[in-house]
Amino acid sequence: MLNRRTVERDHRGLLEHLHQGQRVLDVGCGTGSITAGIARLVAPGGEVLGIDRDADLLAIARQHHGAQEGLRFERCDVLELPATASFDIVTAARVLQWSADPLKALRRMKAATTPGGLVVVLDYNHASNAWEPAPPEEFQSFYRAFLDWRTVNGWSNHIASELPDLFRQAGLEVRQTQNCSEQVARGDADFERAVSIWADVVESLGPAMVAAGFLTGSKRQQASQAYRQWSHDGLIHQSLSLWTITGQNRA
Ligand SMILES: C[S@@+](CC[C@H](N)C(=O)[O-])C[C@H]1O[C@@H](n2cnc3c(N)ncnc32)[C@H](O)[C@@H]1O
Repeated sequence: MLNRRTVERDHRGLLEHLHQGQRVLDVGCGTGSITAGIARLVAPGGEVLGIDRDADLLAIARQHHGAQEGLRFERCDVLELPATASFDIVTAARVLQWSADPLKALRRMKAATTPGGLVVVLDYNHASNAWEPAPPEEFQSFYRAFLDWRTVNGWSNHIASELPDLFRQAGLEVRQTQNCSEQVARGDADFERAVSIWADVVESLGPAMVAAGFLTGSKRQQASQAYRQWSHDGLIHQSLSLWTITGQNRA
């Protein structure tokens, strides 16, 4: 899923802020596909750094994009980000949803931004994601467990709605709040790719949820099977609630 993302489709709220020659930091770059797109858009002369806390994802990023001019990757946790005040834009797409301390992360991101620079964050309101018709009970039960597991870990299911206030608390001036929700309907060219995200989530995060006691192994398997079948022949419309918040470092 991460490898197939593009900045144009999957981080479109960032596009209008990108210009040739900028220095951009992409926090939680994963396998680097959005990061590589950013580097193309600020070339020539631009410099893009992708950071992530996951060494395995960074290895894939370097393998696919390591030779691209003006682009490099480093291992770093956003909570340890040095206060370099050196990036024109610091961005994070779908990352703060996994943080129990998003305010600290935003303060670090601000401190890495030049005075006058921008912080651009894209994230979900997982509690507002919706499907039509209603999903099979096996997947609904998985999704309730997913929301509960997130809550217990301190990861907000309304992080996107909370971001404007968190930006202000971090000392950032909120310049823009854009609805970047992803809507797909059966028949759209992108339907299969877009709806496969939840099959991936059941596979990739399900085991951690089972280990934490939020789901049994057999319930996970049933959810996986039921979702695959239903996304193939029952699901008509998927709406994922995503917002992009842009703030300026006025300090
Ligand atoms: C859902 S992926 C998003 C990847 C990419 N930004 C995108 O939109 O496709 C979240 C990424 O954030 C990274 N991440 C989560 N918490 C992080 C942290 N505290 N510091 C750095 N990276 C983090 C994860 O390792 C993962 O690669």
